[in-house]
Amino acid sequence: MAAPKALVAGNWKMNGLKASVQEIEDLQKLISEKNVHCDVLVCPPATLLAHAIEATKGSSIAIGGQDCHTARAGAHTGDISAEMLKDLGCSHVIVGHSERRSDHGEDNDMVRAKASAAQREGLVAIICVGETEAERDNGQTLAVVTEQVVASLPEEAEAINTIIAYEPVWAIGTGKTPTAADVAEVHAAIRSVLKERFGESGDEVRILYGGSVKPDNAAELMAVENVNGALVGGASLKAESFYGILQAYG
Ligand code: 13P
Repeated sequence: MAAPKALVAGNWKMNGLKASVQEIEDLQKLISEKNVHCDVLVCPPATLLAHAIEATKGSSIAIGGQDCHTARAGAHTGDISAEMLKDLGCSHVIVGHSERRSDHGEDNDMVRAKASAAQREGLVAIICVGETEAERDNGQTLAVVTEQVVASLPEEAEAINTIIAYEPVWAIGTGKTPTAADVAEVHAAIRSVLKERFGESGDEVRILYGGSVKPDNAAELMAVENVNGALVGGASLKAESFYGILQAYG
């Protein structure tokens, strides 16, 4: 079966003011001048979602949220539901990012409930997994990551509305990346879990790599087997560097 079309997603995290939406417009301009052979998604902070959606109307850039609540609506001050993201025009939402797991104590059960809420509303859930440095040093990487994938996948998830992002915690924002062989090993393990879970269509689920992806290492990382795109933090904040990463699929 052919590999799924790649997706390169930018996670702006808690960065960006209204003026930053210009970066998305600049990115759009760059893409329209020279097409790239991957799908492109930007996940700005919640405050910029409406602006970003307005700015990308009619373009090929999709917009997604960085988190959602497990409930549709209710007394949850400060939270945002998947229904609200869908209503705005988002197509995707990131769930279980390691910063949510550590800053907000989100465990696999919580992540699974969030992914389920997203999929119920017709959003694609980007479920993040990844080992800490200590877990890697202890040789636990494959066990930790496969356990996270199994436990974070909702029962009713389908290949079509599921994306897995493998982000080693120690590679996020550090400039460190695993070797291509290490990435290949983890992505192959995730692929096995997905095939066990979804059968043949497990091959259609995109598995993204994230953690210090930059224009100068993107081509090597994206060429690894079972890597179907990237989840990019810091380098997605500027149109030029994000576009540099998209060039891996130029
Ligand atoms: P960096 O690309 O800044 O390392 O962040 C990766 C990440 O956490 C994306 O979700």
